[in-house]
Amino acid sequence: MSNISIFVGTVYGNAQNVAEQAQSKLEEMGHTVTLFDDPLIPDFKEAENICFITSTTGQGDFPPNIEFFIADLRDQMPMLNGKPFSVVALGDSSYGDSFAQAGREVYELMLELAGSPISELKIVDALETFNAEEEVLPWIETVYKA
Ligand SMILES: Cc1cc2nc3c(=O)[nH]c(=O)nc-3n(C[C@H](O)[C@H](O)[C@H](O)COP(=O)(O)O)c2cc1C
Repeated sequence: MSNISIFVGTVYGNAQNVAEQAQSKLEEMGHTVTLFDDPLIPDFKEAENICFITSTTGQGDFPPNIEFFIADLRDQMPMLNGKPFSVVALGDSSYGDSFAQAGREVYELMLELAGSPISELKIVDALETFNAEEEVLPWIETVYKA
């Protein structure tokens, strides 16, 4: 079983709600989970297994609660050296080119930091799925079973 750190980027609480439900699901599965909604670089460095769950705001922007954290990651580039990661991107395809942009950028950043993806980027489109957790929880179960 794994120690999983969930980093959540949220504006109105959608991603927070999904992250809390993901935490419960993962704990049911026997994992230990810590959820960070105001993360700092040491939280990231200490994480063994990283899961980002983030929405996109503005025009392809990061939610303010992780904006500076992401900027610090880009400045400091704390390498992951093969640590496992996954990313869930909540977005809305009616935003066109900026659809799920924050999640896409996090996924790319984790690759640049030499993390090992345990799954492809999971995108949930609010235009198609009203309750994101209905898509995310089965995905979590599959991805974190292995
Ligand atoms: C003001 C605003 C701007 C948004 N901008 C984008 C965007 O650029 N790209 C995108 O994919 N979704 C965008 N969205 C959709 C949100 O990412 C989506 O509704 C998400 O579920 C919100 O989750 P949250 O409550 O955790 O922030 C935007 C939503 C709002 C209200």
